[in-house]
Amino acid sequence: MNKDILKRLFRSIDGNPEDDIVKVAYDIIKDEEEKGHHVLSKQLSAILEENLQTSKKLGKELKDIFSGSSAKGNAKEFPLAVQIPRDKLRHEMVLSKEIEGKFQRIEKEFVARARLAKHGLRPKQKILFFGPPGCGKSMGAERLAWNIGLPFYKVRFEAVISSYLGESLINLKKLFDNITHVPCVLLLDEFDIIAKSRNYGQDVGEMHRLVNMVLFLLEEYNAPGLLVATTNLETSLDKAVFRRFDEVIEIAKPGKDEILRLLEMTFSSTKLPKEIDFSKYLDKLDGYSSAEIVKIAENVIKSAVIDGNSGIESSSFDKMINETIRFHENK
Ligand SMILES: Nc1ncnc2c1ncn2[C@@H]1O[C@H](COP(=O)(O)OP(=O)(O)OP(=O)(O)O)[C@@H](O)[C@H]1O
Ligand SMILES: [Mg+2]
Repeated sequence: MNKDILKRLFRSIDGNPEDDIVKVAYDIIKDEEEKGHHVLSKQLSAILEENLQTSKKLGKELKDIFSGSSAKGNAKEFPLAVQIPRDKLRHEMVLSKEIEGKFQRIEKEFVARARLAKHGLRPKQKILFFGPPGCGKSMGAERLAWNIGLPFYKVRFEAVISSYLGESLINLKKLFDNITHVPCVLLLDEFDIIAKSRNYGQDVGEMHRLVNMVLFLLEEYNAPGLLVATTNLETSLDKAVFRRFDEVIEIAKPGKDEILRLLEMTFSSTKLPKEIDFSKYLDKLDGYSSAEIVKIAENVIKSAVIDGNSGIESSSFDKMINETIRFHENK
């Protein structure tokens, strides 16, 4: 097997030494060693041991860390972060070449972090995605976790904002303190809620404290994982926030090449035969978000399945596009 694929596979393995998957991993290491691939088998072994250590730590620490705490003892009432299990992570993305390159750079730097450290360098760890809705900001964070093989946690800002602020500040600080021991991808999704939250009727002084706390936490972030924030509105974040990220990436609406790949990807998941020439729809779909394009394609497949059609015809694709376009024009 290609050694990069093998390493990627190993990065996604965690659990206990008794788990079947871990036993298979040990067999593969032995196998590679016997084939004379000593360097590879050593690398795989190091990846596996690190993951097993992390799993052990995670099991013990994460439960309390991510459930938040409350002076009133209702500990689980306002959890500030939720885990998305690995098998639920969305990761098959269509991105322009340029953005795909930036994603891969982040992933490669993270994987090479030990080598970088020997030269006094750190990988990019604080990433901000901005851009229009439905084009892959949240999904992008999940994909990074998937490819790097780290557990994925999403901070629930709405819980931070809507619960008692003083208490939330403490919880937020605690959350950040604790991730310094736990490698994970921490997503601060829809980060702009902080900037917008002045309109939520919160006390202005309190909101200032929250914004300052987040700036401080970003500045001080020194954890072994990645921190990813997302926002729709670049203008609502002040420059002080942008400066604190190692990489700021705009995820824009898909161009025609990406639209074509999104259609091909979505339709490739169906076994139904199709007689559609996608290229004739690219102009019509230009300007739509990736989410809308995926939804149109999925609707066409769903209606073919429900109507018991043996294949997907251009006419049903036309119909779904027209319905979607009409819906948008009426909005
Ligand atoms: N680049 C992409 N490649 C493949 N599918 C995508 C892409 N972007 C979006 N999608 C599809 O759209 C859905 C929504 O994407 P996502 O949640 O990442 O959007 P978002 O940019 O975070 O939007 P919002 O600003 O509304 O939170 C995904 O589950 C996926 O089906
Ligand atoms: Mg999102």
